[in-house]
Amino acid sequence: MLAGKRILLIIGGGIAAYKALELIRLIQKAGASVVPVLTRAGAEFVTPLSVGALAGAKVYQDLFDLTDEAEMGHIQLSRAADLVVVAPATADLLAKMAGGRADDLASTLLLATDKRVLVAPAMNVRMWEHAATRRNLAVLRGDGVLTVGPDDGEMACGEYGPGRMAEPAAIVEAIKAALGGGPLSGRHVVVTSGPTHEPVDPVRYIANRSSGAQGTAIAAALRDLGARVTFVTGPAVVAPPVGVMVVRVETAREMAAAVEAALPADAAVMTAAVADWRVVNASAQKMKKDGSGKAPVLEFAENPDILALVATGSSRPRLVVGFAAETTDVVAHAMAKRARKGCDWIVANDVSPGTGIMGGTENEVVLISDAGAEAWPRMGKGEVARRLALKIAEALA
Ligand code: C5P
Repeated sequence: MLAGKRILLIIGGGIAAYKALELIRLIQKAGASVVPVLTRAGAEFVTPLSVGALAGAKVYQDLFDLTDEAEMGHIQLSRAADLVVVAPATADLLAKMAGGRADDLASTLLLATDKRVLVAPAMNVRMWEHAATRRNLAVLRGDGVLTVGPDDGEMACGEYGPGRMAEPAAIVEAIKAALGGGPLSGRHVVVTSGPTHEPVDPVRYIANRSSGAQGTAIAAALRDLGARVTFVTGPAVVAPPVGVMVVRVETAREMAAAVEAALPADAAVMTAAVADWRVVNASAQKMKKDGSGKAPVLEFAENPDILALVATGSSRPRLVVGFAAETTDVVAHAMAKRARKGCDWIVANDVSPGTGIMGGTENEVVLISDAGAEAWPRMGKGEVARRLALKIAEALA
């Protein structure tokens, strides 16, 4: 798949640097060669000896190494590759890249390259969520830098959340996609995500506990396999992924319109927790207590079922995937839902309070298709997303 390709791998200084060793092996297994660059901080976590031995190549470390300059200057080094990969990409490396700094070999190569750059961020959750990192990522995204991960999970520092470097296998998939070989390249996938908000009056709304985590992870996984993704999201807690077309909506009806506008697509994955009902007698002014103790009466109307509309519409994507969040008889309800809505697959999960799934970082799903019910073990939402994206790629192949 990557036969004959040459990857310049910059290993930054984070605890995830140990995963770069596995990454080197997997890149080579896919047929590509690795030219490793180790930052000074990176060398605190993995040794040049192990990196060089695994890569079977010289490890570049110093900008002012005269031998290197005589053999191969940094400009040439940065351009002889087909793709530059930064893994782990620390907050500091991302900041340097966004600022155009060139004060060591890695940052100089990144500034001098004429090739695409793929970064696999890895850092503490607070650093990842810091406004400065968000800003730097937005700049890099605007510059065309590709990203893979980070994943949610437990971190070496003991905290929990997004910031763990993507698994080496996922990085290899992203490398394939970046080099045009992703199994979903040329495909368009629409993903809905998050909750919807249905207004009661100008300051109040009815919503649900969906964080948007699973939908966001699925959009990112599809993107990593090379798909062009339109991500239609309600007001979610989790930030949308970079590198996808984001359409922000609030209500179910807005979401339905945005999805329709995004078609045609090769596949649609509807992860959004769409409100079933909207308030038809929503007030144009803030509702006030009048002191009488009489509570207002809200009247509801059913919202459009976006999944059913897409699955039965004239621009039906080849593959339509729905989700079913249930609290009882998960498989039976999900099978009935699949038939009722006319979709191809249903990803069913148990969202009873005890499972911690709604709003949590893990998921345990059953995939229901023509082939029956396939139970997946409990795993991170990122891993569920990757598996599902690979299945989608197989189905569209
Ligand atoms: O009927 P239920 O809400 O359980 O169905 C869940 C599936 O249908 C999810 O894939 C959800 O995104 C989708 N759905 C939708 N529009 C609705 C309600 C649900 O697209 N109004």
